[in-house]
Amino acid sequence: MPDGDAAAGRQVFIDKKCASCHVIDGMEALREGLEVENTVPIGGMKTTVDTYGQLVTSVINPSHRIARAYRSEAYSEDGESKMRNYNDELTVSELIDLVAFLQAQYTEFPDY
Ligand code: HEC
Repeated sequence: MPDGDAAAGRQVFIDKKCASCHVIDGMEALREGLEVENTVPIGGMKTTVDTYGQLVTSVINPSHRIARAYRSEAYSEDGESKMRNYNDELTVSELIDLVAFLQAQYTEFPDY
């Protein structure tokens, strides 16, 4: 897919109210005024940065790969993610921008 625009993706993240279930370090203000339903961190330090493909999958098919840490009842039910499906409301451009924004939130651990 073509390169996305992370700033536009941030706006999609706000418009779609993703922050009602997600927190991003340093962007807690995005949650203001939203009804908080869940608290799943996005981004931070990872041993491997979530690849583009994994992030796309997380958005268009959340139950495909539920992170081990999220297999508890708070986050999934019968193996289905509690994350809503956005496939009928996100345009392809919005998805591309959103993933560019999400990817920028992950930092790889430095090599020692
Ligand atoms: C109703 C709550 C809810 C909303 C709203 C929601 N999510 Fe999620 N999301 C979850 C839960 C619960 C998980 C963890 C389980 C899973 O992996 O599906 C998750 C996981 C993710 C992951 C994987 C995180 C990781 O590090 O593995 C990404 C990326 C993500 N969501 C993006 C989004 C985006 C983008 C939006 C807005 C378009 C959104 N989510 C809206 C509940 C939600």
